Amino acid sequence: MTSALLTNIGELLVDPDLPPLLDAAVVVESGRVAWVGPRSDAPPADIGRDLGGRAVIPGFVDSHSHLVFAGERSAEFAARMAGQPYAAGGIRTTVAATRAATDEQLTAHVARHVGEMHRQGTTTVEIKSGYGLTVVDEARSLAIAREFTDQTTYLGAHVVPLEYADDPAAYVELVTGPMLTAAAPHATWIDVFCEQGAFDADQARTILLAGAAAGLRGRLHANQLTYGPGVQLACELGLVAVDHCTYLSDHDVEALADSGTVATLLPGVEFSTRQPYPDAAALLRAGVRIAIASDCNPGSCYTSSMPLCIALAVREMGLTPQQAVRAATRGGADALGLTDVGHLDVGARAHLVVLDAPSYVHLAYRPGVPLVADVLT
Ligand code: NIG
Ligand code: FE
Repeated sequence: MTSALLTNIGELLVDPDLPPLLDAAVVVESGRVAWVGPRSDAPPADIGRDLGGRAVIPGFVDSHSHLVFAGERSAEFAARMAGQPYAAGGIRTTVAATRAATDEQLTAHVARHVGEMHRQGTTTVEIKSGYGLTVVDEARSLAIAREFTDQTTYLGAHVVPLEYADDPAAYVELVTGPMLTAAAPHATWIDVFCEQGAFDADQARTILLAGAAAGLRGRLHANQLTYGPGVQLACELGLVAVDHCTYLSDHDVEALADSGTVATLLPGVEFSTRQPYPDAAALLRAGVRIAIASDCNPGSCYTSSMPLCIALAVREMGLTPQQAVRAATRGGADALGLTDVGHLDVGARAHLVVLDAPSYVHLAYRPGVPLVADVLT
């Protein structure tokens, strides 16, 4: 078993809830953090590496992405920037392109985006289906996603596809019946887009309960385009996470604080849809657990960059740099129910991001600059 000692770390964010350790060192063994502390106390190891005073943080945990798709929707984005609102229906454009793509094309596309994420410091990623919307296309989307991560989410209930437009109840039966049976072997989670133009709260409840019966844990897209029942449903069902949370009533905030359901905020979506940013600082003050994720998808937000999301969360959602980095690391782990990523305490996975900067604060202070010097996994 080879051990590696990383020294001369100017600033090491071991536990994103605590102040960083200065002039630190880390020992990595068998892919785990074996020792962490001040450089002066570092034990010997088989090999050593001097990180030149750079800052090191835990790898980002991106708990929400839709990477299994084909095509792109830049024309829709341009129309939005010219004043068109974002609507759930745009999903169908990507469904048509995804159904027409081969497995090889989809796999190559996911690989490209996962690589893009990794180069920007993401070391754990959740990937959803949701652009297939047939039994075969949802199952293959998840099988492809599983080649890249264990954190796969069945999102057959993304939108009602055109061929079921006249009979949404029949589509819910498909999603909770044969499609679920085909998807479940490849999925960890089940998700529903609970929103006007997609699925209502009753449909979402039915789908989440069917998923639970098939062994899938639930998460939800909710309160993205307007106030609605999704957040309260997620809290009532005790889901691990509810994502978007753009429009939250006082009741929603209370329910989140009481349930412990993680509110996953997606600042790139507000950026790319010109929606108002939710007040993340107020959520923290109310006792809500939060995460930040990219939501990388071809419609509402086509960024794979967690550093961009951090910078936006600091500038537009009221978070301090440390709160934002915390939400993008340990917060993301919380949103996926994971305990060994998102921090660098002894025993955690040795997912380390070396920044070309003396402090993690630079992630927000130098927005848009490629600061990730190295990603060690
Ligand atoms: O998380 N809200 C639903 N699904 C995606 C957008 C999908 C799309 O526009 O293609 C989201 O924003
Ligand atoms: Fe999403």
